[in-house]
Amino acid sequence: MSKILVTGATGQLATCIKDVFSECADTLSVVYRTSSELDITDVATVFQEFKTTTYDYCINTAAYTHVDGAETNQETARSVNSEGAKHLAAACAKNNVVLIHISTDFVFDGSQSVPYIEEDATHALGVYGATKLEGEKTIRSLCPKHFIIRTSWLYSEYGSNFLKSMLEYGREEESLSIVFDQVGSPTYARDLAQILSLFVVREIDDYGTYHFSNEGVASWYDFAQAIFEINNISVRLLPIRSEAYPLPAQRPHFSVLDKSKIKKVLQIEIPHWRDSLLRASETLALKSKKST
Ligand SMILES: NC(=O)c1ccc[n+]([C@@H]2O[C@H](COP(=O)([O-])OP(=O)(O)OC[C@H]3O[C@@H](n4cnc5c(N)ncnc54)[C@H](OP(=O)(O)O)[C@@H]3O)[C@@H](O)[C@H]2O)c1
Repeated sequence: MSKILVTGATGQLATCIKDVFSECADTLSVVYRTSSELDITDVATVFQEFKTTTYDYCINTAAYTHVDGAETNQETARSVNSEGAKHLAAACAKNNVVLIHISTDFVFDGSQSVPYIEEDATHALGVYGATKLEGEKTIRSLCPKHFIIRTSWLYSEYGSNFLKSMLEYGREEESLSIVFDQVGSPTYARDLAQILSLFVVREIDDYGTYHFSNEGVASWYDFAQAIFEINNISVRLLPIRSEAYPLPAQRPHFSVLDKSKIKKVLQIEIPHWRDSLLRASETLALKSKKST
């Protein structure tokens, strides 16, 4: 039975991991640590965690994920996304633990017009992406047994995300302005959790960097439109350029990830983002029905 440590246990991806991994309870034994139980910026605590328990895998979902907040809270973003990743990489290397680390499409600047492969040149536009990139580099240098999984536009029934914000705004507002000049691939965090389980259950040892998102391409405008269609919400949508909605952090205009490598190694087909959005919407609707 594989013993797995999951960091950042209250986050949306970790919560999806809990759901998915509970279905493999006979083969996987998972320990979930919240930020207060295991602060990855604290090197002594991190090493103590690996000393107390023998793990086979560490899945690091912990991150400072406020893309705009990172522009002003650079130190915090760096300490979690870069230093925290470094502590985990060092502890995993020392204890022969496989580190599965989640990274982001924001390591790219979006200047390409074809999907990014793992080897494409990185150039982050903002502090969040830059600190995640630092985290990636330090993991590669310290921990040979690593998987760095870059993903994009995560959403789910948990935490704060674009799907949940749109559902909330769509029910309150008559019209919404949404940017159409940023293009990427929405990713249902539950689908990513499923992929992470495959790496563990199949004991994949082709270590390195991988890209994962749902299939298909969308702008934020397309994504919002699909959310409203699927959830039968009537709202007038206005397409706007990024300049019309200025934010502290610059975003890539094109951050579609090429997933050929992960599909080949895991021998999988990836669901299209619209199909996954439908599943996530149904799960959310069921959840809110149960709570009323
Ligand atoms: N969300 C996206 O659109 C997106 C896109 C691409 C990649 N990613 C990556 O995917 C991963 C998961 O994202 P997510 O959406 O699940 O993020 P999330 O919901 O914001 O969860 C992040 C988790 O990290 C924890 N955390 C923060 N600082 C910590 C520390 N010092 N020590 C331990 N835990 C700490 C947070 O705990 P507290 O709440 O207690 O602070 C939270 O539970 C991250 O690596 C992120 O960079 C996300």
